Amino acid sequence: MYPQSFSPVQQVDFALLLVFSFAGVVVLALTLITLWFIYRFRHEKNPEPTDIQGNTRLEIAWTLVPFLLVMGLFYFGWTGYKALRTVPDNALPVQVTAKMFSWTFTYQNGKHSSELVVPTDRPVLLKIRSADVIHSFFAPAFRVKMDAVPGMENYTWFKAERDGEYEIYCAEYCGTGHSVMLSKIKTMPEKDFAAWLDTKEPLKGADAGHALMEAQGCFSCHNMNGDNSMAPALPGLYGSTLTITVDGKEKQVVADERYLKESIINPGWRTIKGYDNTMPPYSDLTPEELLQILQYLKSIGKDSPAGAGGAHRGHDGHGTQ
Ligand code: CUA
Repeated sequence: MYPQSFSPVQQVDFALLLVFSFAGVVVLALTLITLWFIYRFRHEKNPEPTDIQGNTRLEIAWTLVPFLLVMGLFYFGWTGYKALRTVPDNALPVQVTAKMFSWTFTYQNGKHSSELVVPTDRPVLLKIRSADVIHSFFAPAFRVKMDAVPGMENYTWFKAERDGEYEIYCAEYCGTGHSVMLSKIKTMPEKDFAAWLDTKEPLKGADAGHALMEAQGCFSCHNMNGDNSMAPALPGLYGSTLTITVDGKEKQVVADERYLKESIINPGWRTIKGYDNTMPPYSDLTPEELLQILQYLKSIGKDSPAGAGGAHRGHDGHGTQ
């Protein structure tokens, strides 16, 4: 059971428990009554079946009783639903963008984050959008699940009552990377949160390159979790030997700085064996941005710890076969 971290949590859990225990009681009662009838009206005891031609009181009872029970269940379901849809006035708004296969959280001051960092004890309003296909924002600890649909904005809210880390999943099948479309909710005291929100230190070197690639959506195709069916894996790429096709002829090249730079600016001049020519050109990057991306690729290159694993995984994907 997840911790009960905000008030609608209790309402949702209560509605679930109510429906579940109600169903349990009905199943048990019906089973016992059936067994009793089997025993009581068995052939030796009741050789001639009785033919009953209607009973108004019984018919009213079996209509009215289930009606009242179902309306009772509806009441608790409705109040729980209302709690989930009624956003408190002091809620902190955060823009959620779902994209194959990552989550981006944008705050009012323009800060982006790949994790949802929020203050404890303050309601958070999530405005959920999708940049491509249908995803679904799912945070089980807060009983919150809402679809991210392209072309429209959905919302949901939650409130964390203690500091901690909670899982975020994508709950709508959205492609090969669906199962790795994960993130975290991090809750912290208001003071720490304010400090976190204010830090806008510019990233440097490989970190800046990573942030840039994330912002450009590179990891949507260059999946960082071992699935290289759409595009070559990046870990281990720098410094590795690739088979490419130029003007219909295959040849081997080393993915060095120059090769990668040309491939980012103008990917169409060659294709890597096993892949189609689908990458758009990134010719509007500044020389400094290109350098940062190359520094990042180098940091996860063939000779780095990350690259050793990445290069190995590279042989499993269909792209290299
Ligand atoms: Cu996004 Cu499944």
